[in-house]
Parts: sequence; C-alpha cells; structure tokens
Amino acid sequence: MGKDRPRGQAQGRVLNPDDLTGRPEGVRSRKVHGRRQGRPLRPGRKALLDNALPEIALRLPAPGARLDPATLFDPPPADLWLEIGFGSGEHLAAQAAAHANIGFIGCEPFLNGVTTFLKHAADRSLRNVRVFSDDARLVLEALPDASLGRAFILHPDPWPKKRHHRRRIVSQPVLDELARVLRPGAELRLATDHAEYGEWMLDQLAQTPHFRLVEQWRTPDRPDVADWPNSRYEQKALSVGIPCLYLKSVRRESA
Ligand SMILES: C[S@@+](CC[C@H](N)C(=O)[O-])C[C@H]1O[C@@H](n2cnc3c(N)ncnc32)[C@H](O)[C@@H]1O
Repeated sequence: MGKDRPRGQAQGRVLNPDDLTGRPEGVRSRKVHGRRQGRPLRPGRKALLDNALPEIALRLPAPGARLDPATLFDPPPADLWLEIGFGSGEHLAAQAAAHANIGFIGCEPFLNGVTTFLKHAADRSLRNVRVFSDDARLVLEALPDASLGRAFILHPDPWPKKRHHRRRIVSQPVLDELARVLRPGAELRLATDHAEYGEWMLDQLAQTPHFRLVEQWRTPDRPDVADWPNSRYEQKALSVGIPCLYLKSVRRESA
C-alpha cells in the first residue's frame, strides 16, 4: 500500500473507514501503514459497502475475549482459512468458490479492494466468507489457539526502504501469532513479486521454529492454479515480466 494518503471522498461525503470495520469499542486500533481508501467509490460500489459488507462483516469480540469460530457460519464449516491482505479478492473469491465447505476470513483495510471483493462475492453467490476491513493482526489476536487450517499472505506490501522493513507483515511477531492460531500440520502460503522481500520471507521462515518450508516455486513455475489461484498483484507482476516466488510451509507439530 504505498504511503499514507488523505482519506478520500465517496459520493460527496467523507467516508470514515473506521466506521466500517468490525472492531468493537475498546479494541485498540493498530497503525495500518498504507491506504484505507483510494479513488472515490462509484455509487454501486458505495452501495455494496453499505448493504453487502454488514451482511458478511466479521465483528471482533470484546477486548480480551476470543472469537468463537463455530458461530461465524451456519452451518459450521469443515475448517477455517484466513487470507491476510486480500487486495481486491480474486484469490479469496476463487478459493471460497472452490471450497464451499470451508469458512474463510478475509482481512483487507483498503476499502476500494473490499468493494471489488464484495462484487466478486455477489457474482459468485459466496456464503462462506467473512470480511474484516481492518488490520489482520487484530483478527489474529482474537482467534483461538489452533483454530485455522490454512493461512495466505500473498504479495504483501514490500516496504522496500530499509527503514520501513519493520512494517513488513511477514515478521517474527506475525509468524508467532500465526503459529498459535494454525493447527499443527496446517499450511501457511506466502508469495511475492519483490525479489528482496522473497529473500526476507525465506529468511523469516528459516528463523522461526514454528514453520517448515515444504515447497517453493519461482517463475516460470508456479503451483497448480486450481489449488493456488492467481491474485491481482501476481498477474500484474507477471504481465510486465516480474518473476514471482511462491512458498508453502507447514506449522510444525511442536515448537
Ligand atoms: C500489494 S497488495 C496485494 C493484494 C493481494 N494479496 C494480491 O496479491 O493481489 C497488499 C495488500 O495488503 C493489505 N494490507 C496491508 N497491511 C495489512 C494488514 N495489517 N492487515 C491486512 N491487510 C493488510 C493492503 O491494504 C493491500 O491491499
């Protein structure tokens, strides 16, 4: 997400992104580095935010309490998967359509991306996704231990300047928290089109005691698209000849 930008306008009024998140009163907000809103939303997109988002928004429990995954979907799904920073949601929508028996939580603070996902969800009549339009780290904190079967962080913001590296989402604190909420044997999938962030990801995975790298692909190879659908940033990178790295790791049994 580049630099912080002033909040945009939607249909003549300033949208306050904080009104749209599922963060209850008392849950402290976290500094999300990057944009919450881009171009002004067209009326159709604004209507999706107003009408469709509340239907599938994930509401966090009171501070200190944990989410109860069993209450998120009716009927309860076979498993729960999480996508952090889904962007405009092409990957999330494709996974949710391919796995109707799985419940998905998608986290994305950029509201224009959220509206694009809402359109994909409406077009595909998806009923197995909950959206949190704020910082994914708040969801991680609220999830019970060993509650997830899979997590995705695809093409996260690379924050290329050295002084911004501490903003990178793939970091030891986030891997620790993912290790807490992923069951042993659960998959963590990472991808990037930024060569140096790719090395950083490999280094972060080498440092953590919690995950074991099991497979990696580099352009021109990639995982099977039926199992690992394309994301928008991946396609943007590939279309201009930037290679991508895809990493599949698993939560170790212990550690
Ligand atoms: C470069 S985009 C990639 C989007 C998508 N995964 C793709 O591959 O097309 C990174 C996304 O991560 C989101 N993001 C950044 N920090 C985040 C955070 N703390 N929690 C959730 N999403 C975050 C940004 O808003 C942005 O949409």
